[in-house]
Amino acid sequence: MCGIVGVLGHHEVAPLLVEALKRLEYRGYDSAGIATVNGGKLDRRRAVGKLVNLSDLLVHHPLPGKSGIGHTRWATHGAATTLNAHPHLSGRVAVVHNGIIENFRELRSELTAAGAAFESETDTETVSQLLRHHLDKGAKPAEAARETLKRLHGAFALCFLFEGEEDLMICARKGSPLAIGHGEGEMFVGSDAIALAPMTDRITYLEEGDWAVLTRKGAEIYDEAGRLANRPEARIQVDATRIEKAGYKHFMAKEIAEQPVVIADALKHYVAGDGTLRLPEALDFKGVDRLTMVACGTASYATHVAKYWFEQIAGLPVEIDIASEFRYREPPLSPQQWALFVSQSGETADTLAALRYAKEHVGKVVSVVNVATSSIARESDLALPILAGVEVGVASTKAFTCQLTVLAILALKAALDRGRLDAAGLAGHLAALNALPGLMNHALGLSADISAVSKNLAEAQDILFLGRGPMFPLAMEGALKLKEISYIHAEGYASGELKHGPIALIDSHVPVIVLAPRDGLFDKTVSNMQEVMARHGKVVLISDAAGVAEAGAGCWKTITLPEVAAQFAPILYSVPAQLLAYHTAIAKGTDVDQPRNLAKSVTVE
Ligand code: F6R
Repeated sequence: MCGIVGVLGHHEVAPLLVEALKRLEYRGYDSAGIATVNGGKLDRRRAVGKLVNLSDLLVHHPLPGKSGIGHTRWATHGAATTLNAHPHLSGRVAVVHNGIIENFRELRSELTAAGAAFESETDTETVSQLLRHHLDKGAKPAEAARETLKRLHGAFALCFLFEGEEDLMICARKGSPLAIGHGEGEMFVGSDAIALAPMTDRITYLEEGDWAVLTRKGAEIYDEAGRLANRPEARIQVDATRIEKAGYKHFMAKEIAEQPVVIADALKHYVAGDGTLRLPEALDFKGVDRLTMVACGTASYATHVAKYWFEQIAGLPVEIDIASEFRYREPPLSPQQWALFVSQSGETADTLAALRYAKEHVGKVVSVVNVATSSIARESDLALPILAGVEVGVASTKAFTCQLTVLAILALKAALDRGRLDAAGLAGHLAALNALPGLMNHALGLSADISAVSKNLAEAQDILFLGRGPMFPLAMEGALKLKEISYIHAEGYASGELKHGPIALIDSHVPVIVLAPRDGLFDKTVSNMQEVMARHGKVVLISDAAGVAEAGAGCWKTITLPEVAAQFAPILYSVPAQLLAYHTAIAKGTDVDQPRNLAKSVTVE
């Protein structure tokens, strides 16, 4: 994944690069590094682990210079060591890279045969060595860059800095996002606009295959064919204050707590004061005979929940798929169907590739995104923002419930367009949705009780989550959240599926979290819960007061939520699932906001 940044500035750039990298750390935190050109000379500092290690290094070994590039790494090729950390420096060029150079083996053996000595195991070093090769043959920097880029296969965002060139930076984009920032006699490059927000709000997004030559005067952008390209400059609004912890111990805690507010915001955005839906005119489901929904991870679980809504409320058949499978399976699609992509970052490589495949085949491509300026948003026919605000915690929380909220609204729109819902029906569903922020506030108030349960969960090796109907995908999401940040093995199952295999895992050491509002499927879930208890499984029942009163006896622990409309219960029940994961991670002492091996934006496949 990795984050990259570049600055041609007026002042010392090291502090600016570090500040920008702080904003990009969500892309990976295995190592970080910066390089500058100063007095014509290239130099760099690199440190393994979190960015703070690089900051500490810079205190003792400052790096002067007014032109520089920086990198925060999520390791793909080669372990997280200083030698593998970026920037890679070969001769007279320094390189930072996000993505994967797929033909790096071939390039590496070619360059080695030509005499290059590699110092790292990374795919990126083939780029710096290739540049060096061309520079050594006498090519000018832009020429060397053009020749190098021609040879690269795969996905990349790259930024180059050259010895002897204090007013030059070259960057390129193919498959991984890259933004150019314009200042007053200064120029910037970043993996996203958020990284550049403290320096500029004037942004130009590079398009696929573009590369650019930057000086302090501006940028010359070339398309893949080498023609000068005119890419628009836009003013981006990034609310920097929303990237603070605001007194919370962790971003995740803050983001869990924000949910009532951001969900109310999303509802206000999509529902007018008179109770009608406020959606783009082009979003008309009449004549749509099928919906394919594609996403990854937590966003994918949001589509799983939404399938129940589209099918049950709108009678619209839905197929769901994870993007990494969909993109290579190349399923038959038709112009009568729509494809819907859900992504918090809007940059997930697999989801973007799946979108590009679908765009060739379906009637309309719709996306539900948090980052409105993202590649997925820009490449969709219609992009609907979820309005969650910046989500920093690597484990997605408020983006998930906002995705669910927007998908619920879309299901209601589909139901209206398909004649499955009248005004009274719509009003009923909207009343249920509007009640959610208040109910979530109540659920947040249970944090201390949930923390007490989590202290016990922290000792477990394996934990199962069970649910039925739309609570089944929430069981999978609850398990994902827990394993991501507490490193405890957890799985989510459909309650009815338990006896077909997973029940073999149950013994007195295995906690089983049962997500069961007292809905039409409650009795069936309770039967499955009894099967667990009969095998000494330790059940944590999460239900409403009626459910706990009816089935709580014999449970190891119970958590009582307020009553909620059955269909939209997954939105409310997300809160205790998130809090269970959060408090378990706290009890285990893991890194909640930056769990090991993960990154927030997965821009490699
Ligand atoms: C889990 C999580 C991931 C993401 C997934 C897709 O907490 O955050 O599973 O949901 O990587 O990311 P986006 O939504 O950015 O496409």
